[in-house]
Amino acid sequence: MGQARILGATLLGIEGVAVEVEVRISSQLPRIDIVGLPEAAVRESAARVRAAIRAVGFTFPQERVTINLAPAAVRKQGAGLDLAIAVGILAAAGQVPMESLGSVGLVGELALDGRIRSVRGALALADRLARGGCSRVIVPSANGFETALLGDAAPEVAQHLSQVVEALVTARALPVASSESSPGAERHPASEAPDLSSVRGQDEAKRALVVAAAGGHGLLFRGAPGAGKTLLARCLPSLLPPLGRSEALEVARIHAAAGLDASRVAERRERPFRAPHHSASRAGLLGGGRQLGPGEATLAHRGVLFLDELPEFDRRGLEALRQVLEEGRVVHARAEQRVVLPADLQLLAAANPCVCGYFGSGVRDCRCDDGALARYERRLSGPLLDRIDLHVPVRPVRFADLDLTEVPPLESAALREEVLRARHVQAVRLAGLGLPDAMRCNARIPPGSLFEATRPTREARRILAGAVDQLALSARAAHRLLRVARTISDLEGDEETPAAAMAEAVGYRREGG
Ligand SMILES: Nc1ncnc2c1ncn2[C@@H]1O[C@H](COP(=O)(O)OP(=O)(O)OP(=O)(O)O)[C@@H](O)[C@H]1O
Ligand SMILES: [Mg+2]
Repeated sequence: MGQARILGATLLGIEGVAVEVEVRISSQLPRIDIVGLPEAAVRESAARVRAAIRAVGFTFPQERVTINLAPAAVRKQGAGLDLAIAVGILAAAGQVPMESLGSVGLVGELALDGRIRSVRGALALADRLARGGCSRVIVPSANGFETALLGDAAPEVAQHLSQVVEALVTARALPVASSESSPGAERHPASEAPDLSSVRGQDEAKRALVVAAAGGHGLLFRGAPGAGKTLLARCLPSLLPPLGRSEALEVARIHAAAGLDASRVAERRERPFRAPHHSASRAGLLGGGRQLGPGEATLAHRGVLFLDELPEFDRRGLEALRQVLEEGRVVHARAEQRVVLPADLQLLAAANPCVCGYFGSGVRDCRCDDGALARYERRLSGPLLDRIDLHVPVRPVRFADLDLTEVPPLESAALREEVLRARHVQAVRLAGLGLPDAMRCNARIPPGSLFEATRPTREARRILAGAVDQLALSARAAHRLLRVARTISDLEGDEETPAAAMAEAVGYRREGG
């Protein structure tokens, strides 16, 4: 009786997959069937679509409506196919001319009154449809802010099914997504990260944070309760360089796919700072689960993953994290699908030195016996520690020194300038060595380019060799020392990596014990 095809899209992990919605109306008893691996939310689409079509004054076909979603192998999730299904039905019923559907892609959930609701991951969905050759893509107005990031490929936006139908029938353009087009989109205040000036003293820990920020290095703070580890760690974002344009797009896609507000990333270009609680499960950390969604490691992509109270985290999660740190990505394989989620992150962690918290603190005596100390140490997986560049002890500032007024504390703004300068020098040098964008910070220098990139002096090499012997360091740990020493030299403005920088780098290793 009638038939129509139109494109929609669904999320797989953090990527959009184009879905062909094929609608067939046949003269049988009224009934709606949706076939092609729909999840519950998609199956419920029938009820929403029926109500929405009536709400905009069209008639819903009193016949058999069969909706086929292809490719059949991809699980269709969420309500984002509603809009494509509704328009497909109207076209199959002859209420919207077929020609108008040409190469149109539609994304949106329908409310019963025909309003179009925002969908999770609209950025990835719109991007997929545009790159898949759709000449016209329409998404919910509420997703306008994030999809505006697509620049020239930004989709049109609509708030109501009636607008979409009218735009298709008349071939008139709807407004294009822009950072103003989402109603109620708030302007975000500047970063919520605390400023380093809120931390009194602790100049050595602050220096280590600057080194970490300047080279993208992993950092572990260890010290007694109340020493200020958590406070210091939360200051890291105030030192980091902003995301580049393409990085921001990448991160916004991930956050949008996870149902988080991506507008902050889009507008402020702030690097993600994820601080999951130590009760987080392995899936919470690494993602996966039924929907193959991103975990904290992927949400921290191009930013920071902060694991406060490191020894309290699930061991299997930490073990799995080793691989992620190595590869910069998480791989989930399930029977029918393999999903790779990006996770190029900077690891920041904090831990007490022992169970009672006071081992070596100089504040109180440690009450742990040798067995307890050893067990605690084992909880911190050795191979994971080996992958953290900077091991930094934090000693509590004495109460009397906390309100020291004569020495103004170091502030983030000035230190951030140093970080930005050092990052620039690195980017230029590493680009000159032919390294791709993602490897243009010292922590990412591949082993093959290491000596060329770091250029240690003879004296620096001697110190490195001594440290490798004395601390029984792995080759990986030795490479890490070179990278950290390079970052310190970049902060100092040295062409080569001198002995002093190497000695400071070794210091960050030795303190870890
Ligand atoms: N150097 C400092 N300057 C200013 N305030 C500080 C400093 N050190 C600690 N504090 C204060 O002490 C509080 C506790 O610090 P924080 O939570 O960072 O300690 P911690 O080392 O993480 O302790 P725990 O091991 O118990 O988690 C902070 O919220 C802050 O108010
Ligand atoms: Mg703490």
